Amino acid sequence: MTVARVLVTARVAGDAVARLDEAGHDVTWRDVDAPMPRDELLAAVAGTDALVAMLVDRVDAELLDAAGPGLRVVANVAVGYDNVDLAACEQRGVAVTNTPGVLTDATADIAMALVLMSTRGLGAAERRVRTGEPWPWSLTADLGTGLRGKTLGIVGPGAIGLATARRAKAFGMEVLLTGRSAPDPGAVEGLAARVVDLGEVLTASDVVSLHCPLTPQTHHLIGVAELRAMKPTAHLVNTSRGPVVDEAALVGALEAGEIAGAGLDVFEDEPRVHPGLLARDDVVLLPHVGSATVETRTAMADLAVDNVLAVLAGEDAVTPVRG
Ligand code: DGY
Repeated sequence: MTVARVLVTARVAGDAVARLDEAGHDVTWRDVDAPMPRDELLAAVAGTDALVAMLVDRVDAELLDAAGPGLRVVANVAVGYDNVDLAACEQRGVAVTNTPGVLTDATADIAMALVLMSTRGLGAAERRVRTGEPWPWSLTADLGTGLRGKTLGIVGPGAIGLATARRAKAFGMEVLLTGRSAPDPGAVEGLAARVVDLGEVLTASDVVSLHCPLTPQTHHLIGVAELRAMKPTAHLVNTSRGPVVDEAALVGALEAGEIAGAGLDVFEDEPRVHPGLLARDDVVLLPHVGSATVETRTAMADLAVDNVLAVLAGEDAVTPVRG
């Protein structure tokens, strides 16, 4: 076996990196709990055969050129891969992999948590208790809205969208689905969900939950017109990618009372959050924690390393991304 040079750009959970060492590879692991600064990344990637990248690492032509012709695989430790320029990788013969499946439940749990937090106003309620503001109990204080009989619109009925729909079903919600392609009929069995167009999801849903990948087509998919189309009592939940929502438009819609609230785990320009969102009590803000459980993050790192080991061994990647 030839020894390959592998760069892991940040701390990962579990013993995935040890498995690269055990396989005899020459591993550079930046065991730091924060994104690798760009200049360091460009320097460290030079001469590598494999890159284990985080969703905050931009894998573009500049990085691939800095890596040089030896780079064979970019293993993104995320299911989303909008940070990777697939065409530039393909041009250079670099395989790209992601981590589908292993984070479905964790992310759907957070989507459902945001549905509950937003519709019940739990962010604002928790903040009030924590800041010591008086909260004399009364029958009419802190009234949210219930979920039973309400409609959840899923935009992007892939694995995570459908897992969220199944959770919503258990809360007594009706489900509408919309996406670029029709969901797999086997996967929607038992959901009694209707597949409709985006327009109907927006006008008919009490909560709209976003689960689509970020692509040029989905960038600002939810903007001024879409928010205006939603019910004034509706909530928007986003656990996909921040730029799917035009954040300035969202702030405007909340200010104008065009929707009732939002639960966001992702933002347009992470880790920056639009100041208009920070100022509002009717939004719940989480720091991109959709997949953040020990079990899930360990499984994500393991799958990324499985992909690296497979490609370096001349085998097919386990979970390749196809452009
Ligand atoms: C992903 O895997 O794309 C998620 O956003 C990570 O939490």
